[in-house]
Amino acid sequence: MTAFIYPPRLTCSDNRRSSGIARDYGRRRRDSGHHARGAVHRLRRRRRCPQVSLQHVEIPVPSVKKHEVLIKVEAASVNPIDWSIQKGMLRPFLPKFPFIPVTDVAGEIVEAGSAGHELKVGDKVLSKLNFWKGGGLAEYVAAPESLTVVRPAGVSAVDAAGLPVAGLTAVKALMSIGTKFDGIGGTGANVLITAASGGVGTYAVQLAKLGNHRVTATCGARNMDLVRSLGADEVLDYNTPQGAALTSLASDEKYDYIINTAKNVNWSAMKPTLSSRGRVVDITPNPGNYVAAMLTMFARKKITMMALMSLGKEEMRFLMELVGEGKLRTVVDSRCPFEKAAEAWEKSMGGHATGKVIVEM
Ligand SMILES: NC(=O)c1ccc[n+]([C@@H]2O[C@H](COP(=O)([O-])OP(=O)(O)OC[C@H]3O[C@@H](n4cnc5c(N)ncnc54)[C@H](OP(=O)(O)O)[C@@H]3O)[C@@H](O)[C@H]2O)c1
Repeated sequence: MTAFIYPPRLTCSDNRRSSGIARDYGRRRRDSGHHARGAVHRLRRRRRCPQVSLQHVEIPVPSVKKHEVLIKVEAASVNPIDWSIQKGMLRPFLPKFPFIPVTDVAGEIVEAGSAGHELKVGDKVLSKLNFWKGGGLAEYVAAPESLTVVRPAGVSAVDAAGLPVAGLTAVKALMSIGTKFDGIGGTGANVLITAASGGVGTYAVQLAKLGNHRVTATCGARNMDLVRSLGADEVLDYNTPQGAALTSLASDEKYDYIINTAKNVNWSAMKPTLSSRGRVVDITPNPGNYVAAMLTMFARKKITMMALMSLGKEEMRFLMELVGEGKLRTVVDSRCPFEKAAEAWEKSMGGHATGKVIVEM
């Protein structure tokens, strides 16, 4: 089958022979059933140099373990975590080169492990793969049954594939401020969502409205109409002075909560806009905000950092139902054919996607 990998670290001369290394990777996987560890170790000792971001390889279809299902992938979505791992965010633990990235996939089950009881061959599903294993940027992937849910009829693979990381992150951030998503309850809290045009932000705005919050959102000028259409009560252009200061133009009230999904927004900008017991939930890898989180642990106004999310099957089912009922939609930035997966990669890395970047197999 065809897959894309983070290439091994190459020397400049290796780079010119990169397709040979890809073939080598495939042969070694066939021979051993494991990653090409020997080749990778040798390559790691060599000097790094610029290289292609993803590399095409032909490798065997993975075999399924008893608690897994084999999915023929129809669509996958790229998240910043995918290329952040490639760039070394989780070093020295990850990545192990070469590595098939991407965790969010939608497709059809073509084989079910012996211990599975819930899912069967032919089911259209959505799966969140373990981020340390990846595997999604491939024609087939062995996925854990525990993180795979059936897709309701009428929900496309593209719409489903956007959900796992971004949707679950939005749900978790909102749950952490006590949001109920029934559209009737809730406290009517005043909530700011930054980078509302991004993968997480587009879901967060819609979910916050289902939670009956008053939502102020920030995004660039080109996305203001879109973010309004998602339900935001007020939208600020982050390139204007008011937008940069995060201040509402329509309300004198300060924010009870800020869901920060923009990694270049600092605690010092958010703190003055919070109510006296206001709280920031920050999902971004911003080092300064990590320090602020420690310093404000016992303060009245505080910032908490949300680590890699731990939600799973129940919440994925919940999100799928919302999409199926038309209460939540996936905003699609772009759909790249599989052979152009590297373009999707670059698009996500650029940091200017509007909604989700999707690869279609
Ligand atoms: N902790 C976790 O579990 C977790 C999970 C998922 C994501 N994350 C992190 O959360 C962040 C967002 O993820 P994502 O998938 O939503 O990213 P994304 O889709 O790449 O976000 C891109 C969007 O952000 C907008 N943006 C950038 N800076 C902005 C600013 N200062 N103000 C307003 N909008 C801004 C861009 O608008 P323009 O094009 O107009 O600039 C673009 O539309 C990333 O840093 C990611 O690593 C963390």
